[in-house]
Amino acid sequence: MQILNGSGVNKAFGGRKAVDNVDFHVDENEILGLIGPNGAGKTTLFNLISGAIKADSGTITYKGRVISGMKPYRICHMGLARTFQKAKNFPDMTVRENVLMGAVFGKKGTDNAAAERKTDEILSFVGLEDFRDKSPGDIALALQKRVEVARALATSPDVLMLDEVMAGLNPTEVGEAMELISKIRGSGVTIIMIEHVMKAIMSLCDRIIVLHHGQKIEEGTPEHISNSKTVIDVYLGE
Ligand SMILES: Nc1ncnc2c1ncn2[C@@H]1O[C@H](COP(=O)(O)OP(=O)(O)OP(=O)(O)O)[C@@H](O)[C@H]1O
Ligand SMILES: [Mg+2]
Repeated sequence: MQILNGSGVNKAFGGRKAVDNVDFHVDENEILGLIGPNGAGKTTLFNLISGAIKADSGTITYKGRVISGMKPYRICHMGLARTFQKAKNFPDMTVRENVLMGAVFGKKGTDNAAAERKTDEILSFVGLEDFRDKSPGDIALALQKRVEVARALATSPDVLMLDEVMAGLNPTEVGEAMELISKIRGSGVTIIMIEHVMKAIMSLCDRIIVLHHGQKIEEGTPEHISNSKTVIDVYLGE
């Protein structure tokens, strides 16, 4: 069943189309990969879905309700959460407080005690207990990225959008991030992931959408994508 759907979505910046008439859908509990060269429009599409920016035209629906044009906090309350390509951790708060922000301002009206409980549950789920009292600036990049994921998870999302959570990680850390993403999906969350780490995309995703110059140029299973001449030409290489 489709949980998220976009139809004819357009966004231009100064006359240049960043997202060009894109149709997409996401099925419940799948992992959808969003790939393509730098500047293809991937993050812009996340910004449009999460309400950070408004589309010029087109409609985005979530659980059958139109969300395009809604404020980001309302979209978040409905169960759509995202991370940011450039980690947006709060530097003057501890790791735990960073995650607590998600729990407090997330999906449902939670009281403080419930938010505290949720925070500890998520810290343990993502393996950040040992770093809870640290400043996000004092921990390794892989852990900083995990704090981003944890804050998004603390909002109790049904759909989690991950924007390059593996960028800059070493192979061991990529493996750990892959395990975490599988575990998140296992907990019933639908995932859309933007990623340039092909090993992770190809082994985790059920389906992949490829953007190029804002346009959807290909869509299908990892096997289909890795054999697509179009995708090999513009992005993957031989
Ligand atoms: N707020 C903005 N104002 C002006 N131009 C923008 C803005 N956001 C994105 N763009 C432009 O839109 C295009 C798509 O950018 P976007 O960040 O969505 O690409 P991307 O696919 O996420 O690339 P990358 O893999 O490098 O992160 C680029 O040309 C970018 O410069
Ligand atoms: Mg991007």
